[in-house]
Amino acid sequence: MSLSVIVLAAGQGTRMKSQLPKVLHTISGRPMLFYVIEAAKALSDDITVVLYHQADRIREALEAEFPGLGYKLQDHANYPGTGGAVMEIPTRHDRVLVLNGDMPLVTAESLEPLVSKEADIVMSVFDLPDPSGYGRVVVENGEVRAIVEEKDCTPGQKAIKTVNAGVYVFKKEVLDRYLPLLSNDNAQAEYYLTDIIKMARDEGRHIVPVWVEEEAFKGVNSRYDLAHAEELMQDRIREKWMRAGVTMHLPKTIYIDSRARFFGECTLENGATIHGESVITESHIRAHSVIEDADIKNSGVGPMARIRPGTILEDTHIGNFVEVKKSHLKGVKAGHLSYLGDAEIDEGTNVGAGTITCNYDGKGKYKTKIGKNVFIGSDTQLVAPVTVEDNVMIAAGTTVTRDVESDALAISRTPQKTVKGFFHKFFGTKK
Ligand code: UD1
Ligand code: MG
Repeated sequence: MSLSVIVLAAGQGTRMKSQLPKVLHTISGRPMLFYVIEAAKALSDDITVVLYHQADRIREALEAEFPGLGYKLQDHANYPGTGGAVMEIPTRHDRVLVLNGDMPLVTAESLEPLVSKEADIVMSVFDLPDPSGYGRVVVENGEVRAIVEEKDCTPGQKAIKTVNAGVYVFKKEVLDRYLPLLSNDNAQAEYYLTDIIKMARDEGRHIVPVWVEEEAFKGVNSRYDLAHAEELMQDRIREKWMRAGVTMHLPKTIYIDSRARFFGECTLENGATIHGESVITESHIRAHSVIEDADIKNSGVGPMARIRPGTILEDTHIGNFVEVKKSHLKGVKAGHLSYLGDAEIDEGTNVGAGTITCNYDGKGKYKTKIGKNVFIGSDTQLVAPVTVEDNVMIAAGTTVTRDVESDALAISRTPQKTVKGFFHKFFGTKK
């Protein structure tokens, strides 16, 4: 499509009250700016991101994820404002879509009604019962006459309910003509991109308003807005996966990262939290379990289990209060209260309650390898590095510090002492 895109991301985002640049605050696991770039990429092969505040940090994040974008450092000292941001960008195509970096809910589909229209300027508007904070749009005979920023409004203009959503498609030639004519003679002493509208209309240009879906064009300015955008994004993500065959109990209580994927029939119970690039196939995640960048296949997890990054579970049962980190479990049962880290555990093995892989000695991390059909008694500690071969029994309460060969029993216990008559001697006679 012959369309260039400019993404405005130079603003300071003061209202976030944050050291982190606003556009790098995350929604469903990714910086909000990434969603905007994704929408832009679906529409254009010529994308320029305008940066200023913390430009290096934002650029670094973008370059790691989206190679090949163009960047412009805004001359903010001399040309502040959205008009200043768009000045002197060498766009390749003859139409230019301007997007804001703080609109994470925008999608290529929601932009379609704007980019499919032909006019000198197509601009996005919506009607709000409370329009405060937005530029008001003066519409005359179906065309936009002007946009007046709230701080520059007369009382009459303030009452206008049609507002500028902040996304436009300009003919490149329109930008080339009017950008140099902008002035900063307004309440904020900024160069307003929106002032182009009046100038262009004065010269008889066609400026078409398109009423857009408010949800998709919502800007994020505060952490309150961020949380609200997250809720809307979560609704979308959950709906997508439910339609793809994932059962969800009380979906509003479930969190799913935008990068997580599901295959086959899966169930997520209430309070399930799926972080990162987790991949879940034909599995059941029970209530209040947390999955982080894990790969889970044909398995059941939880309730209240934590499966941490780098874990692969296959044909495995994980019960309550079990934590698994960077481990590969295949055909394993670990029903209760365990920590399994840096471990490889093979088919038919049963992990008793209270089993702990002692993978860290204060300096390094070490691996525990457990073979097939091992019965690990309750309250076993496996001090890594250690290997337990196939077909082994480990007695309850054992501390495994040496490798165990196949077919063996490992047991390490202090022999039990029984002191007769102790109770009465100690407590006296109890009724
Ligand atoms: C802008 C519009 C307003 C519209 C609103 C919709 C103008 C003058 N006003 O107002 O009509 O209703 O968006 O959300 O355009 N930015 C830069 N460089 C700057 C200033 C801003 O890149 O010097 C970027 C910001 O990072 C942001 C976008 O431009 O992504 C919009 O800036 P913002 O300050 O939020 O504009 P509003 O005052 O909200
Ligand atoms: Mg804004």
